[in-house]
Amino acid sequence: ANVVSASLPLLGKKVMVTAGPTYEAIDPVRFIGNHSSGKMGFAIADRFASLGADVTLITGPTAEKSIYPLKRIDVVSAADMLHACKAEFSTAEITVMSAAVADYTPVQKADQKIKKTSTEFSLELKKTEDILATLGQLKKGGQILVGFALETENEEEYAKGKLVKKNLDLIVLNSLNDKGAGFKMDTNKITIFNKAAEKTVFEMKSKTEVAIDICNEILKLAKA
Ligand code: CTP
Ligand code: CA
Repeated sequence: ANVVSASLPLLGKKVMVTAGPTYEAIDPVRFIGNHSSGKMGFAIADRFASLGADVTLITGPTAEKSIYPLKRIDVVSAADMLHACKAEFSTAEITVMSAAVADYTPVQKADQKIKKTSTEFSLELKKTEDILATLGQLKKGGQILVGFALETENEEEYAKGKLVKKNLDLIVLNSLNDKGAGFKMDTNKITIFNKAAEKTVFEMKSKTEVAIDICNEILKLAKA
């Protein structure tokens, strides 16, 4: 092998990564969102780009910036993210879905700012489409699909359930129970499960280092 293929082992390979939260509009000035910073997804996208991959990063609203050159697609809502993912997925050899997609979205978006006229107010929500599960159904032989699971109880059981139900090759379990792990932190503690239900537990580390671990596990699959 020449120097280029040794230092850039993923040259020419298309990788798709999702990152950040989604914002679901309630009215022109309000939304339902979550505390995802986008750091984990950006770190994964940057790691793949540093290995020479042709990375498409589909991200919800975030202050993060990528370090390496990549194709960035900014989206706001879960519906927008679904649309972008469906357009990019079929050509991606590796897909990593680390975005914290809203599970519910308002049934209606008010055209005008909602006024505080009543003492009680409730919002009707409907389920969003599970993007990862949709891609799992579209997946063709040779494509690698990786999801995340964020759990606070029965972590292993729930994570393994999502791996099977969504037709994934790997699932990365994040637990909010661990001190120093989570949305706003610069560190994370993960456990990865593969289709054989084999479990790899990692130490708490920076999200940059966690991204390297996740990429390494994916590359093991890609070589197999
Ligand atoms: N996900 C998705 N589309 C959604 C919701 C989640 O693609 N509408 C993806 C996330 O990107 C993540 C994975 O599904 O990779 C798991 O998200 P998580 O919230 O842990 O699981 P859910 O399947 O949404 O189930 P629940 O929130 O009930 O635990
Ligand atoms: Ca969810």
